Amino acid sequence: MSPFQLTRTLAEDATGAALRADVLHGLTRTPKELPPKWFYDAHGSELFEEITRLPEYYPTRAEREILVARSRDIAAETGARTLVELGSGSSDKTRHLIDALLPGLDSYVPVDVSESALRGAGEALLAERPGLRIHALVADFTHGLALPETPGPRLVAFLGGTIGNLLPDERREFLRAVRGMLAPGDALLLGTDLVKDEATLVAAYDDAAGVTAAFNKNVLAVVDRELGADADPDDFEHVALWDREREWIEMRLRARRALAVKIPELDLVVPFEAGEELRTEVSAKFRQEGVRKELAEAGLTLARWWTDEEGRFALSLATVG
Ligand code: SAH
Ligand code: AVI
Repeated sequence: MSPFQLTRTLAEDATGAALRADVLHGLTRTPKELPPKWFYDAHGSELFEEITRLPEYYPTRAEREILVARSRDIAAETGARTLVELGSGSSDKTRHLIDALLPGLDSYVPVDVSESALRGAGEALLAERPGLRIHALVADFTHGLALPETPGPRLVAFLGGTIGNLLPDERREFLRAVRGMLAPGDALLLGTDLVKDEATLVAAYDDAAGVTAAFNKNVLAVVDRELGADADPDDFEHVALWDREREWIEMRLRARRALAVKIPELDLVVPFEAGEELRTEVSAKFRQEGVRKELAEAGLTLARWWTDEEGRFALSLATVG
């Protein structure tokens, strides 16, 4: 059997139907919003990788620092034979974890909505580790995720701070679903970006080179291509704001003038007033007590908490019970 298997648990038309439903719901409400998962077509996944290399975007470097320092501890504590990774993207940082888990590791199960990211990651990993068994899943980690039958113990990794892209209710539901994937002896490895000064946070989401602006506007390109819409990215301005009360960054697209976007596939015309904003992402930042509480509400116990030297980002190891 080939060491790389890819299963599409989302039919192509299911993805299209989900996009139509999200666009119809999100662009006909006030304030307008779209879920961040639609950033990640092949171009959006590449733009995200570019973001991870920006001087202002510290989370990837901070999390890598923790993984380099702690992967051996994680391997020793979990003894995982299956590593599931949700929202795996390029799986680049995951190498440190995979190498620490080998040779006991039976399977790596990366899960992502981006098939191009999964294929690229699989190819790169297998070029370096030909013995690794990879079972990639094109799936939405927030809906009915069914994992392949692989040997336990299972370690579910959710890195990058992507949990912060879910709204609080979505996080609650998501963590409960993750708890449901775990048996006694399994564990969750969770990456969370931490609350810090506003200037550092805003710079990370509004970089000087404009890569995050291009990433933000890519959602318009996805809607244009998939639904035949005529949104012009130049008509919108990239906005990144720190919400001090909710402790999250919000990315928005602000209309530079009054305009109307035609979406023929939905038989819809969406008016924007000059200055009107469309929320495209929240990126919540966390504190240790909040993470502990949210895990506990889902039936998980915070067993380990590691941060990078500068205390910018945390990795939590959570166990069942
Ligand atoms: N874990 C990587 C990538 C983070 S970017 C890192 O730490 O660098 C977020 C990733 O999650 C992207 O690859 C995106 O395609 C994926 N993603 C976003 N929403 C998703 C969803 N609902 N279901 C599955 N994957 C999703
Ligand atoms: C994937 N996720 C954790 C990123 C974040 O930081 O919230 C997505 C991103 N948005 C803008 N820059 C990066």
